[in-house]
Amino acid sequence: MTVDITTKYLGLDLANPLVASSSPLTSKMDTLFQLEEAGVAAVVLPSLFEEQIEHDAWAVYDLYEYGSAISPEAFGSYIPEMEGYNTGPEHYLELLEKAKNRLSIPVIASLNGMSPGGWTAYAKTMEEAGADAIELNVYRVATDINMTGSDIEKSYIDLVSDVKEAINIPLAVKISPYFSSLASMCRRMVEAGADGLVLFNRFYQPDINLEELKVKPDVVLSSPVNLRLPLRWTAILRGRIDASIAASSGVHTGEDVVKLILAGADVTMTTSALLKYGPTHVATVLFEMESWFSEREYQSIEQGKGSLSQASAADPEGFERTNYMRSLVTYSSRY
Ligand SMILES: Cc1cc2nc3c(=O)[nH]c(=O)nc-3n(C[C@H](O)[C@H](O)[C@H](O)COP(=O)(O)O)c2cc1C
Repeated sequence: MTVDITTKYLGLDLANPLVASSSPLTSKMDTLFQLEEAGVAAVVLPSLFEEQIEHDAWAVYDLYEYGSAISPEAFGSYIPEMEGYNTGPEHYLELLEKAKNRLSIPVIASLNGMSPGGWTAYAKTMEEAGADAIELNVYRVATDINMTGSDIEKSYIDLVSDVKEAINIPLAVKISPYFSSLASMCRRMVEAGADGLVLFNRFYQPDINLEELKVKPDVVLSSPVNLRLPLRWTAILRGRIDASIAASSGVHTGEDVVKLILAGADVTMTTSALLKYGPTHVATVLFEMESWFSEREYQSIEQGKGSLSQASAADPEGFERTNYMRSLVTYSSRY
């Protein structure tokens, strides 16, 4: 039985719910083609960073470190050449224009920043270069001991409003889960103009090199267990916010995609699994997902979307505290 696997994200009609999130794989035409050929529904280009826009000749050292810090030995990964990754506004627009002209799937441009300023107007330039939508990644590590949670939340909301004001295409906001009241922040971001939320950004967490006694940049790829966080929040937010939901982090298999759709995601995004297994992995994930729905005689994925969200689930407390208690009490160990 054929299942209709089409979905809508940010008002865009997508062939299926699997999107390649920002990564070195979306930074080059050859891997973009491979992703498209394997069946990905849309791509998010790597982020253009606030610092790159504000300082023309910004050294991209840290970004190279970011990419080269993934240890291929540890993952047996498909790690593409990092040279040329995130090299500044001009290259970015070139890539965006090429991707738009040569791919037939939607291309989402990504802006990454945290402070108020003129850089947000760059979203308009991305729109003019053909972006189908903008993803704003607000990446902030709140280290200022004088800055309150409310100050930080306000800076997020202001950024979303500034970018929204600059553009006429849809805006997604990629956020972290680290807010005291995540649900309320999501509502406020939608009110400020977000057409979609990407749940969640994975924060870069440095390690320490004990030989060299230095901070070691180290990107750890996700594993399927990282799915639990977006799974829970997708389920909680489904039906409560008037915006698309993209679930991101830990999507490695078709079953991961199924779970997130049942929880209420409009699309799922993946990076680590593609870095690990290569762009053709998209086809495997889609096959697994479609088989799951087909074997259970769904006519469309829309039919299952949100059926296990908190609002629809038979046991809504499953996503909250009660289940936490239950899971601790029923945990069994052989020791
Ligand atoms: C090497 C690498 C580069 C990345 N570059 C970006 C980026 O430029 N902008 C961004 O928003 N996210 C970036 N990400 C984060 C991914 O888009 C994604 O949100 C994250 O890896 C979680 O998804 P996953 O569990 O499928 O990997 C990057 C991740 C990796 C591993």
